[in-house]
Amino acid sequence: MDILTCRDLTLGYGEQILVEKLNFHLPKGSYLCIVGENGAGKSTLMRTLLKLQEPLSGRIWLDEEAAAGGIGYLPQQTQTQRDFPASVKEIVLSGCQARGSWHPFYTREERERSHRCMHRLDICHLQDRSYRKLSGGQQQRVLLARALAATDQVLLLDEPVTGLDPKASLAMYEVVEKLHQEGITIIMISHDVRASAENASHILYMGDQVFFGSSGEFAESPIGQYYLARGGQHA
Ligand SMILES: Nc1ncnc2c1ncn2[C@@H]1O[C@H](COP(=O)(O)OP(=O)(O)OP(=O)(O)O)[C@@H](O)[C@H]1O
Ligand SMILES: [Mg+2]
Repeated sequence: MDILTCRDLTLGYGEQILVEKLNFHLPKGSYLCIVGENGAGKSTLMRTLLKLQEPLSGRIWLDEEAAAGGIGYLPQQTQTQRDFPASVKEIVLSGCQARGSWHPFYTREERERSHRCMHRLDICHLQDRSYRKLSGGQQQRVLLARALAATDQVLLLDEPVTGLDPKASLAMYEVVEKLHQEGITIIMISHDVRASAENASHILYMGDQVFFGSSGEFAESPIGQYYLARGGQHA
């Protein structure tokens, strides 16, 4: 069963068209890695999937159960967000707001849920620390826990390893793969195509050309071979 279908999706801003007539469908439980050039529209696609932005044309269908269960989102990071003044616990709890019901105080169930997410990502010992004083790797783990607090179904991760050293990147990939094994559909943007292609079931390449297929099909395709041979440098 598919969790997501994009039909004839055209993305852009005003006169600027980034992607034209994008078509793909993704089975539930997949691990989609979106790769491609800077400015190709990867983050725009993710924001469009989240309905934070309208497509220029075309349609998106998200499985009803997934839509009802909420979508976890880890946005591409900016320096300002790194300085966000809140405790780890508060940041993870704020993910629960994306589940729909907003009220002035968090419920006991939401507190328990966010505690379970911190436990799953092994960050309980950081819960009372100030987010802005954590390392980049710890911060990304906190943001992943926040995204997880929003969903049991699907995680959208926009460059979760950018700025992390190889060891922290590997740890991040391992924890994302663990969540995938637990049944969560993963949609991740990454520039690190070799590492991400190892776990991904599907690849969407966005650039001058667009490719969608299984990671095996990507590795066999001319664009995949060109891209992988250059260690993920852009074709
Ligand atoms: N809100 C906006 N209004 C107008 N143009 C925008 C807006 N957001 C992004 N753009 C432009 O759309 C293009 C694609 O941006 P996007 O952030 O989707 O690229 P990306 O593939 O995620 O790139 P990167 O790898 O650098 O993160 C860029 O040229 C960007 O300047
Ligand atoms: Mg981006």
